[in-house]
Amino acid sequence: DATDKGEFRHYMMKEIYEQPKVISACLDGRISETKVLTSCFGAESGFLKDIENVHIVACGTSYHAGMVAKYWIEDLAGLPCSVEVASEYRYRKVAVPKNTLFLTLSQSGETADTLAALRMAKELGYLTTLAICNVPSSTLVRESALTLLTNAGPEIGVASTKAFTTQLTALLITSVAIAVENGLSAEKEQELVQAMRSLPAYVSDALSQDAHIKVVADRFANKHNALFLGRGTMFPIALEGSLKLKEISYIHAEAYPAGELKHGPLALVDEDMPIIALVPHNDMLDKLKSNLQEVAARGGELYVFADKDTDLNNEENITFTEVPKVDSILEPIVHTIPLQLLSYHVAVVKGTDVDQPRNLAKSVTVE
Ligand code: G6P
Repeated sequence: DATDKGEFRHYMMKEIYEQPKVISACLDGRISETKVLTSCFGAESGFLKDIENVHIVACGTSYHAGMVAKYWIEDLAGLPCSVEVASEYRYRKVAVPKNTLFLTLSQSGETADTLAALRMAKELGYLTTLAICNVPSSTLVRESALTLLTNAGPEIGVASTKAFTTQLTALLITSVAIAVENGLSAEKEQELVQAMRSLPAYVSDALSQDAHIKVVADRFANKHNALFLGRGTMFPIALEGSLKLKEISYIHAEAYPAGELKHGPLALVDEDMPIIALVPHNDMLDKLKSNLQEVAARGGELYVFADKDTDLNNEENITFTEVPKVDSILEPIVHTIPLQLLSYHVAVVKGTDVDQPRNLAKSVTVE
């Protein structure tokens, strides 16, 4: 029952712990052992082969999920993809190339700006409109031509957790489905589907760091600022981690692509500024390590989230949190978990209202 907190003190924590189960529910019936089942887009899955471009529009946490999907769609399908917040999109002249898919992301399906963007898009000659949404009876679902439900179940905590990771899961399914129509080999598809099948287990593994992260969180409670760094798909996850921290713990947090460090944020680094680094295990690893050295050289206190084969560890100035080692396509999803736990525990230490942060609403239904 969604309204029962069960053994948990807050809905947010209950929803964090539900993630292995709801990610399974999101994958269920959408992939086989070897393939993405395009029937999940309904009878009209023929649109997939016509897509030449993708425009993604969303707000808040849902926007961050869209930012990850841009990397996946351009990488796997080789198609151009743009991502924009709905409140900007709806108030400008948008150029729509031929055969562009309009894709909205929304937990509630009731966000005023996202709905307005959809209504505008319907006049602009898009190929079709697809909503990735958590609420089957929502306005967004009703007004979109196609829907892929995230199946996260009701989310009550204002700070979005399971809705985000299921959006990413649905976006991965969608990205692979588009890629298959654009030359992705059957072998690569199978490899990606296999990776997706192990996702719920990896998310459970990531949750096992909870007790360690609780200890780490104690050190944040007296901080006023934090800087999150990531590269590639970890950059949107850094944005999402910083949003979670500011939403529920009221600590000012910013996220930067690590390569931008020298272009400004390095000036802010001193012993009072914790730096949260999301370390991917791919060809960007060495580049990220050198960004970390730049921070360490300026006395910055580093909190590193990485798998154990990255050769990073607890050292002076570095607090290490282990994240399960996974196929790089899954990294943004798995790395989200420790950041949710971090912001949750920081908020509990600070004594804020975790499920109902001040000034914020679960769904922004007026502009
Ligand atoms: C509000 C919520 C966020 C959410 C955003 C977009 O700001 O507090 O958690 O990400 O709206 O909502 P949606 O329902 O469209 O995903």
